[in-house]
Amino acid sequence: MFEPKPYTGKTAFEQWAEYEGAPLIRDFIVPDLRKITLAPWDRLGASGTWLVLGAPEDQLSMAAYVCEIPAGKSLKPQRHLYEELIFILRGSGATTVSSEGGKTFTFEWKTGSLFSPPLNSRHQHFNGSGAEPVRYVSLTNAPAVFNMFHSYEFIMNNPHRFIERFNEEEDYFSGKGQAHTGDVWESNFIPDIVDLPFYEFSTKGPGMKHVEIELSSNTLSGHISESPVGVYKKAHRHGPGANIIVLKGHGYSLMWKEGQKWQRFDWGPMSMMSPPNRWFHQHFNLGREPIRQLALKGWGQKYPIGGWNEMFKSTEEGGDMIEFEDEDPAVRAMYVEELKKEGIELRNPPVSYRKRV
Ligand SMILES: [Fe+2]
Repeated sequence: MFEPKPYTGKTAFEQWAEYEGAPLIRDFIVPDLRKITLAPWDRLGASGTWLVLGAPEDQLSMAAYVCEIPAGKSLKPQRHLYEELIFILRGSGATTVSSEGGKTFTFEWKTGSLFSPPLNSRHQHFNGSGAEPVRYVSLTNAPAVFNMFHSYEFIMNNPHRFIERFNEEEDYFSGKGQAHTGDVWESNFIPDIVDLPFYEFSTKGPGMKHVEIELSSNTLSGHISESPVGVYKKAHRHGPGANIIVLKGHGYSLMWKEGQKWQRFDWGPMSMMSPPNRWFHQHFNLGREPIRQLALKGWGQKYPIGGWNEMFKSTEEGGDMIEFEDEDPAVRAMYVEELKKEGIELRNPPVSYRKRV
């Protein structure tokens, strides 16, 4: 049985990942989740890799993993005391869910489905095709949980039922949802994210739309945002653990630590990136269609964890969002140049700069 060793300089999560043998990729961005090389992962009975995205100095609290289920196969059953949000990148299949001593629920998913096995439920994923593999990406707070308890048995073999989250409601995985204030769609299973409602979100930039997503009464949550052609969003910053998956379109992001020069990251469909802790970040659409990004993140609105309230408040008012009037003029100049190469015009309204940043 795995037991983390003290005084090694390595976190309990890192030691667990090493023990299980799946690779662990640390970077700011991965170019295409569909093409990442995976390795055998015995605990799952399939192949996969951990992805810890962000800056190397970030505290290790969130980690994603990509997993592939071979054609006609299933993963081993599992349960754990960390939350996970699962997005199906390719394929179709089904998942069974049960609580300790309870009945078994089954629901079917496909490419574009988003769901979360309730915390500590026993669950098993099945590939529904005998010909094609299934590939999914999952965001977890496994590092935070492993680092806090550093007890494998407690985390991976715990009979506790979290009935506040899942109490065997018959329609739990029916795919129905409910809208809440704050542009939230709450559900436990979203059969296809393209069917979600979208809300106007011009706070972030002209023509922006979004929807916030709460699943299975987790602390983790998601959102999808859409940016029109020739338009860029305001920069903002927040804590670590937002993992952004590009669903549609291509472009680039600038990310920087306060007082430092930005770094540029180019992306396309199914790239995944994570703005580091408290780094400003700003996304730029270079395509001829709106971009869509799915963010899986470590905080939400149903059960907030605090510390995330300033990200849409202007830096002029002490917040964490840079208004267009306050940004470095080089940001817009660079975008105009890049758009020119694509034969696209800037559609952000003209700006009068209040000062040089
Ligand atoms: Fe952000």
